[in-house]
Amino acid sequence: MLPSVAIVDAELTLTVPPAVTAATGMDALVYAVESYTAIRAGELTDGIALQAIKLISRSIHKAVYNGKDLKAREDMAMGSLLAGISLGNAGVGAVHALAYPLDGKFKVPHSVANSLLLPYVMKYNVVADLEKFAEVLGENIEGLSLRKAADRSVATLAQLSQDVGIPSSLKEVGVTVSDIPALAEEASKVDRLLNNNPRWLTVKEIQKIYEEAYGAVEEPSLA
Ligand SMILES: [Fe+2]
Repeated sequence: MLPSVAIVDAELTLTVPPAVTAATGMDALVYAVESYTAIRAGELTDGIALQAIKLISRSIHKAVYNGKDLKAREDMAMGSLLAGISLGNAGVGAVHALAYPLDGKFKVPHSVANSLLLPYVMKYNVVADLEKFAEVLGENIEGLSLRKAADRSVATLAQLSQDVGIPSSLKEVGVTVSDIPALAEEASKVDRLLNNNPRWLTVKEIQKIYEEAYGAVEEPSLA
């Protein structure tokens, strides 16, 4: 369902509670990052997605922790709109494919499922397009190799998600280890999205991503 017109008025979001601001703000960031690194991404969507990433990442802390900050709310509203335009044209990928089974059986809100999985899927995806992943959120990347810069993006995103209170492991949202094979099986059927992911993923690889997201085996480090 695509709207003909969108009225984007940040003042209407001033009273959105912190938890909803955090989850929906991270969700918009997921749309921007996934569409920027999608197979179907192109010149037209790249600039839009990068601007969305810039606006959201610079203002999400303020919008969550001081909801009355109109400038931060404006960045979030515009970032969300741009992310939606990028998503509408370039599509999304494996983060969404792995999030869908969580929305259904475990009643995890879509935005939380996406935000929780983003760093884990990204960690897997980076090698498929180091340049783009390095650009996503690489902070202080001067002098770093492309690989290290891409890893820095993953760590920055994981930190951002944690800062605004998004759960960082599947354990926290009620998933058990025995649920993982069925989740992986279900996610592997979402071809529509997996075919747009920068890295081809087998069922085994999807299962491995869920396992890492379950135990937070190895927290991406900022070092
Ligand atoms: Fe979504």
